[in-house]
Amino acid sequence: MIELALVIPTFNERDNIEELLGRLTTVLSGIAWEAIFVDDDSTDGTAALIRSLNGRYPHVRALQRIGRRGLSSACIEGMLATSAPYMAVMDADLQHDESILPVMLNTIKAEELDLVVGSRHVGTGSVGDFAAHRQALSRLGKNVGRRIYKCDIQDPMSGFFMVRRTFFEKTAHRLSGISFKILVDLLASAPEPVRFREIPYRFRSRIHGESKLDTTNLIEYLFLLADKTVGAWVPVRFIMFSISGLSGVVIFLALFWALYARWQVTFELAEGASTAVAICTNFLVNNWVTYRDRRLKGARLIRGFLWFCLACSIGAWGSFSIASFGFQKGLPWQVAGLTGLIITSVWNYGVTAAFTWRAVGRR
Ligand code: GDD
Ligand code: MN
Repeated sequence: MIELALVIPTFNERDNIEELLGRLTTVLSGIAWEAIFVDDDSTDGTAALIRSLNGRYPHVRALQRIGRRGLSSACIEGMLATSAPYMAVMDADLQHDESILPVMLNTIKAEELDLVVGSRHVGTGSVGDFAAHRQALSRLGKNVGRRIYKCDIQDPMSGFFMVRRTFFEKTAHRLSGISFKILVDLLASAPEPVRFREIPYRFRSRIHGESKLDTTNLIEYLFLLADKTVGAWVPVRFIMFSISGLSGVVIFLALFWALYARWQVTFELAEGASTAVAICTNFLVNNWVTYRDRRLKGARLIRGFLWFCLACSIGAWGSFSIASFGFQKGLPWQVAGLTGLIITSVWNYGVTAAFTWRAVGRR
């Protein structure tokens, strides 16, 4: 029977895989373990490499996701793919200290815990040479998130932890699956107070490959927090979609002003060009942030853009009709205009979610 499953998200980690498996074999001798690498279709052949190691490591597999991105959702799907009673999530890039895994396993069993966290902020733990700006971000994330996960944990930003299957199963359906911060998601989604302990370790520097954390991950973290607070009533994607829409309005106004008032082009040209640019940037911002996990590329990008334009044109026409109707019936102009806008936003969101960025599996 497999006792411990390691769930290891990967995106372009080819040069770290064999070293990691070698180290795991050493530190986990005597424990029945398996490893599930959840790979988001790395371009460097990570998944193919993992499969090629079948002869040496029959208890290791790759779960390859196509057309998807996202560290949290990768971890969740990896945990769902094992039957082991204990599951550890760790990075593939050797930054997490694998030598504490046996201690984590003993602790979760002996103390009957739900969760054991590899922590950089207790006892002898340390962030190592983690860049100063990353440390500051980590602190900020912790302070902002504290209200959401409501427990006294020192390293909620850790991506290195072990859970008991029964705890995960109770929590799985409530998870948001958004962002890099799967631990925050788990803590915030647990139906009961979480029994946990933190085990110190020193965060190592990366040798091969590079960090995938970028600015969209920060935005995603805020969306995770939003989902945990208002997500039950309003889908966060709708909020993201609306914010992207507002950014389109700002771009439109700025460009319209520049073209018409500053550069004195004709009104029609200024209006037409600003509208076109606003629609394109709006589409790209949505593709970049709102639907980061399903980002369209190549031919799909063009097809998605056409769907987007079609949906939004119908939406604009609908907004115009609703607002004019309301206005004729005597609604104040602000109310009539706003009603048209809200109905159109919901329409645009619904139609583009279904056709432009439809979820994989429904293609
Ligand atoms: N499947 C999948 N999909 N894996 C991903 C993705 C993705 O979109 N993005 C990153 N990964 C994998 C990487 O290949 C690596 O194995 C692991 O997730 C962590 O990614 P890094 O890019 O190395 O993150 P980091 O080092 O900046 O941050 C890590 O450490 C922090 C401190 O513990 C993460 O674990 C953070 O969550 C953590 O807060
Ligand atoms: Mn890393």
